[in-house]
Amino acid sequence: MLFHLLAVGDVVGDQGLSFLDRHLRSLKKLHAVDFTVVNGENASGVGITPRQAKDIFNAGADVITLGNHTWNRIQIADFLEDNPYILRPANYTSRVPGRGWGVFDGPRGLRIGVMNLIGRCEMDSNFENPFTVASAALKEMDADLTVVDLHAEATSEKGAMGWYLDGRVQAVWGTHTHVPTADVQILPKGTGFVTDLGMTGPAQSVLGIKPQQAINRFLGGLPARFEQSEGPCKLESVLFTIDTSTRKCVSAERLDIRE
Ligand SMILES: [Fe+2]
Repeated sequence: MLFHLLAVGDVVGDQGLSFLDRHLRSLKKLHAVDFTVVNGENASGVGITPRQAKDIFNAGADVITLGNHTWNRIQIADFLEDNPYILRPANYTSRVPGRGWGVFDGPRGLRIGVMNLIGRCEMDSNFENPFTVASAALKEMDADLTVVDLHAEATSEKGAMGWYLDGRVQAVWGTHTHVPTADVQILPKGTGFVTDLGMTGPAQSVLGIKPQQAINRFLGGLPARFEQSEGPCKLESVLFTIDTSTRKCVSAERLDIRE
């Protein structure tokens, strides 16, 4: 049996939420998607509120993953404890609430494991090693299929994770940079991989925010609260097709939508 898993890039702001709501259901229907994982850590620009998490679920996500901005909207903390379908990186220390992986009921009785990790290169240093945490978690996860979102800056760290988990999970994708990479592939032992999914939100932007604000920052101007850009939106995602009998990814392809 073929299992279709859609991984959707970081949803940015109200425009990203609205675009996701308008397009995700039809995209899933068109490609017979069985399970959908959406990175939501930028739903507030930085962070995500419980209301925004509910909006992402209502748009069609089965599981939400997060990243470095998990705690920017601290009101999400209780929601992370209460709702097992939203994950924060598993390699946060045990001092924070929530969970970093879960095993979820998929179609036809399949148990789908989803793990969220965060990288350490050019990120906060107070994270456990994502590689050793991933290995330890896999020993505990009783899943038929497992997929991993590594929220990280460095392409090298994301690439290394893909190869590290090759043959042990069915898909590994990167998030956080908001720039889609052109390296969608199936690794030798059958793990689907892409360095970064991209993002969901304003297309005419720098990572979702107004270009002038990004330029001002790099010119050394006064810091200002980032505002999301306006205009047409895009949704960037990768569809992983997994053969459930061999537990290998057999196809990985970009599904990107632009207004
Ligand atoms: Fe991020």
